[in-house]
Amino acid sequence: MTATTAPATAPAPAAKPAPQPSRPAPSPTAKKLSQKTLKAKETRWDKRAAWFMAFVTAVIVVGLWALSAYVWDKPPNGRGAQGDTPVGYALGVLTLVLYGVVAAYSMRHRKRIQKRAMTRTWMEVHLAFGLVAGLAAVLHSGPRLLSAAPLHGAFLVAWLMLIGTGFLGKIISVVVPKRLTRIEDEALLAEDVTEKQVAMRKEIEELLQANPEPAFVAYANTVVPKAIKDPQHYGKRRMRRHDVIDEVLEKTNGAAAIPADKHDTARRIVTCLVEERFLEQMQGYHWILRSWVPIHVALTTLCFPWLIVHVVTVFLL
Ligand code: HEM
Ligand code: HEM
Repeated sequence: MTATTAPATAPAPAAKPAPQPSRPAPSPTAKKLSQKTLKAKETRWDKRAAWFMAFVTAVIVVGLWALSAYVWDKPPNGRGAQGDTPVGYALGVLTLVLYGVVAAYSMRHRKRIQKRAMTRTWMEVHLAFGLVAGLAAVLHSGPRLLSAAPLHGAFLVAWLMLIGTGFLGKIISVVVPKRLTRIEDEALLAEDVTEKQVAMRKEIEELLQANPEPAFVAYANTVVPKAIKDPQHYGKRRMRRHDVIDEVLEKTNGAAAIPADKHDTARRIVTCLVEERFLEQMQGYHWILRSWVPIHVALTTLCFPWLIVHVVTVFLL
């Protein structure tokens, strides 16, 4: 048996790994977002199941309504599909139950006691069954809107606005993030954008204070802002912000407009102004992403007592 002999000399210290080009550590937000993206790409059986169940419920709702309208409550024997026919009651109660199921999402969302996956499943249930709740309410009413005015008709309008704002919000949450990522270098939260905006504005003010010559002030305040196009226009070149800055400098004839000793300053102010315009648009998108939520939540709150008032009035008045 051959024993491995120990080397006579002390082993050379393990070769140091070649120095890596220093890369900025990914921000915790970016890390969180990329994990979120990966999760979002997994096959979502829970998502499919939620939409399938909602579809089946929608088919049953339409089927019951059609039976009521064209068979069971068909004139002249009946008064057509109405809220107070057996099918009308069934659809009214179903709408009430769906309100409970859909609104339960917001409770779970707020408490955050369940796992993330659970929240995602609830979100799908929320979207799919929220739409069915809209369909069920419309068919429960007959459908009848104008003749149901003012009290019940107004309730139906409020209900449809609740569903409508949710639908609009979903579209916004698909369309806007795409436009946002087109113009941002890294994923930023709205608070980070605000912070950057403040820093940029401060630097612009300082540059203007340090260079009060009328030519420079006019260049910074009028000429450059006019030359910067809508950030979406620069599209995929967002990652090469230098190109955008060069384009603006060239377009504004920065070299000729500013004395030679101010060229670096001119470049810096263009950089700040371009950055500020991009940040402004990012902030706008962040605002759109959140703007509809308070309306949706307010309508949710409004519809609950209204549902109770509706049930009380249709039975008692
Ligand atoms: C979001 C839920 C609901 C909406 C948007 C809604 C809306 C309406 C509308 C627009 C009408 C037509 C009124 C008319 O023809 O003048 C109606 C009728 C009626 N609803 Fe609802 N409803 C809802 C839930 C319920 C529930 C939970 C019940 C009770 C279980 C109910 C019971 C009735 C009854 C009995 C009628 C017939 C009233 C009548 O003809 O005078 N509804 N509803
Ligand atoms: C009965 C109908 C509905 C009710 C009662 C309802 C209620 C709510 C509530 C209370 C929230 C706030 C959750 C939170 O942030 O804590 C919410 C969020 C949301 N709803 Fe609805 N909703 C309904 C229908 C819909 C529909 C039909 C859609 C879209 C098709 C929808 C889309 C959304 C979305 C995307 C959010 C997430 C907002 C966020 O990013 O936090 N909702 N809903």
